Amino acid sequence: MSTLLELAAEGGAGAPSGEDSKVGAIPLMGPQQLYELWERQNWQSHTIDLARDERDWAAMDPGLRERLEWNLAGFFVGEERVTTQLSGLVMSYESQAEEAFLVTQQVDEARHAQHFNRFYEQVIGVEGSFEERLQAARADVSPAFVEMFDGLLVEWGARLVRDPHDVEAKVDFVTLYHMLIEGTLALTGQWFLTDFMERHEILPGWVEGFRLISRDEHRHVAYGTWYLREKAADPALRRRIGARLLELLPLTNDVLVPRGVDPVTWRMLDYTMQQTTEFALGALSRRLKVIGIDLHALVAAA
Ligand SMILES: [Fe+2]
Ligand SMILES: [Fe+2]
Repeated sequence: MSTLLELAAEGGAGAPSGEDSKVGAIPLMGPQQLYELWERQNWQSHTIDLARDERDWAAMDPGLRERLEWNLAGFFVGEERVTTQLSGLVMSYESQAEEAFLVTQQVDEARHAQHFNRFYEQVIGVEGSFEERLQAARADVSPAFVEMFDGLLVEWGARLVRDPHDVEAKVDFVTLYHMLIEGTLALTGQWFLTDFMERHEILPGWVEGFRLISRDEHRHVAYGTWYLREKAADPALRRRIGARLLELLPLTNDVLVPRGVDPVTWRMLDYTMQQTTEFALGALSRRLKVIGIDLHALVAAA
């Protein structure tokens, strides 16, 4: 089993070959186009039918239920965290289009948390308030998760709230939030969990919600890729993005593994850690290549 850093050093799992002559030529959607896409892709979390999910959950093997709950907890708590902690980035907008897009991203994250709250209440059957269900989900998240979502994300968001014009703070925040939390962790988890449900033909409401959330996340990551490519034109900021990635990859890797399990033998449902780590690294490497950063070369030179 290799970690994200080890795989990047090997240049495996879809990491770029080092040829990045086309960087800058790849057309990317900017904030205005992404805002307009948001208008076309709007959806409602409260109309997803969860009746079949309730029956599937009740009939499910208790061991599988427990593993699914662990996976879901990270999404529920994570979506709540990324909603409030986006406020500093919203304040840092540099154009009217960026302001409009970032506000849509914040409401998307609130909608995602609403969807998971509804699933916890109606399908898992956790009674009480939204706050009590969130607290219950926290019992399943790991120390690495807490360090990332209650530590770094909050501290780096607060730096932007204090000074929304601090471009270094903004670059750090987008690297953590859009590249690693959304582009590496969330989209990987969503892909494997959706694939599992579809193969086993269970929890159709979960699948429908995850598909819609994943579409939103792709739009958010597209903004982060656009923003970092703009800023990476400055060599000092490009080095800063690289330094932050190297610093954050070990923690990102740890967030993929639950509390108290052996990372060598642990499987996410029926996928090995090698499979999920390779998928996560491939997704990250492709986006970094668009930004103009060769992850393999970055790790090899460190
Ligand atoms: Fe989200
Ligand atoms: Fe997001």
